[in-house]
Amino acid sequence: MAEGYPPEQRDAVYRVIAERRDVRRGFRPEPVPADVLGRVLAAAHQAPSVGFSQPWDFIVITDRARRERIAALARRRRDEFAADLPGARARAFDQLKIESILDTPVNLVVSCDRTRGGRHTLGRATQPRTADFSSVLAVANLWLAARAEGLGVGWVSFFDERELAAELGLPPHLEVIAYLCVGYVTDFAPEPELAAAGWARRRPLAWAVHAEEFGRRGLPGEEPVDPLADVLAAIAPPDAEAMTAARERQDRMTKPRGSLGALEDISVRLAGLAGACPPPLPEPACVAVFAADHGVHAQGVSPWPQEVTAQMVANFLAGGAVVNAFAAQAGAEVTVVDVGVAADLEAVPGLLPRKIARGTADFTAGPAMTRDQATAALVTGLEVARDLVAAGNRCLITGDMGIANTTASAALICAFTGADPADATGRGTGIDAATYARKIDAVCRGLSRHQPDPADPLGVLAAFGGFEHAALAGFILGAAALRVPVILDGVIAGAAALAAVALAPDAICACFAGHRGAEPGHAVTLDYLGLRPLVDLGLRLGEGTGAVLALPLVQSAARALRDAATFDSAGVADKH
Ligand SMILES: Cc1cc2nc3c(=O)[nH]c(=O)nc-3n(C[C@H](O)[C@H](O)[C@H](O)COP(=O)(O)O)c2cc1C
Repeated sequence: MAEGYPPEQRDAVYRVIAERRDVRRGFRPEPVPADVLGRVLAAAHQAPSVGFSQPWDFIVITDRARRERIAALARRRRDEFAADLPGARARAFDQLKIESILDTPVNLVVSCDRTRGGRHTLGRATQPRTADFSSVLAVANLWLAARAEGLGVGWVSFFDERELAAELGLPPHLEVIAYLCVGYVTDFAPEPELAAAGWARRRPLAWAVHAEEFGRRGLPGEEPVDPLADVLAAIAPPDAEAMTAARERQDRMTKPRGSLGALEDISVRLAGLAGACPPPLPEPACVAVFAADHGVHAQGVSPWPQEVTAQMVANFLAGGAVVNAFAAQAGAEVTVVDVGVAADLEAVPGLLPRKIARGTADFTAGPAMTRDQATAALVTGLEVARDLVAAGNRCLITGDMGIANTTASAALICAFTGADPADATGRGTGIDAATYARKIDAVCRGLSRHQPDPADPLGVLAAFGGFEHAALAGFILGAAALRVPVILDGVIAGAAALAAVALAPDAICACFAGHRGAEPGHAVTLDYLGLRPLVDLGLRLGEGTGAVLALPLVQSAARALRDAATFDSAGVADKH
């Protein structure tokens, strides 16, 4: 058996991997000597490549005038990207440095020739992208070798590729893989700059390792983890100490005690959730609109055709729905998650394709979904929450789209709270008396068929739920486990929250009721959960609209607790 390296050499390999950084600041003016640059390029040139095709070329750029022209190209793309960002993200982005084209003495371009070696290049015929992967491996070698030489490397991808290719005189069959800014630096940061800036977080390794099949997550030598069980185990009560500190601070702030009304409670709850006073500001925020179709639509419970679900998804993605307008106003991002739309959706940016099935079954005829499907939807929701938090969001907002989903919500609410279907069923998007009667009847028939047991939340979800309800329940649980606030929209989110809280009662600590919707079942739900809605405007749209309206209120509650002066600090006399 071949031997590994002696321990100190092995440690050095792992050290360079751990300490390699994307560097954008603190470059020094010293030139990079030719022999050093040569060693780093030789390391790149030793990368593995598909069929040993070595598809890379390296273009070394030092000319100032050329770098200025290239920097101008990057600036333009940066400005375009910034113009598209929601409020809090745009402010954070403004603070980020994304390139050091002019601050470094050398810029390197790594290209890829996807045709090199002809058609029989081993492996590339079946997977043409392997040519690009090979050039990326050359970049990885270069990046590690540079770190060992004390050279910082910053990768810039803010380019229109053909614009850059033209500037470099690149023939049309070559692709730009990487634009790298290279130079000596004052130091290497201990963690990614984007992590330090709160833009994104590192995902735990355990989320990324699967045993045998995708979805069976688990580290080598450990039992596969059950993501749902993991999340349920991680959900804990609020931090009493942080809540006391927040209450005390509210009383010392330069205002009459209690004068911020419900916002004081919000701030205290945010502190309890974060385990810190003041808690982090709940921004950036992201609305996740979970979309799915419902078999119960066949019972004539909605005047809208089922195709509207898919059409509205397209509208959200095109930015044309009310939730997009409200989110733009509040500075939140909109993400759409297809968990069960009964149509094939085109892959576009902003859409997370996580379809469990093309719509649920009709719950008046049998369970809406299998228990496995309900579990899969819950896990999908909690993974969306995790990913959005890893992407740097500090506030999650529920959204939903699914024609007939108020009928499924009414059934869930009755099952969890024991409410009478006549009290929990509403007119949804607006229906006539006959449709309303059919809707109540469908809920009644469903309840008598399934005889739901609220102590079996998964069974209740499977009996009636939409995929969006189950996914939203998982989303809420995911937020609670990561101790990030989740602002609930209307009756659909409320029904999902009932399921989440039935699975983990402490999940309620993460829930903030954005608004009270017009559906009667929503009021029943909020009472049952003990949540006070922040906005009460008779909205009955869904999509996340009511919750997005409440975002500035939740943010203001946190900001007041953080920023307002106390009687002591401001030298203002207290009433006492
Ligand atoms: C393909 C790729 C493109 C990147 N593009 C940019 C970029 O345009 N601007 C930037 O500042 N960083 C860019 N980065 C750097 C990443 O932000 C950085 O690698 C990540 O935050 C992790 O930090 P670390 O490399 O220090 O571990 C890019 C990285 C990769 C791998």
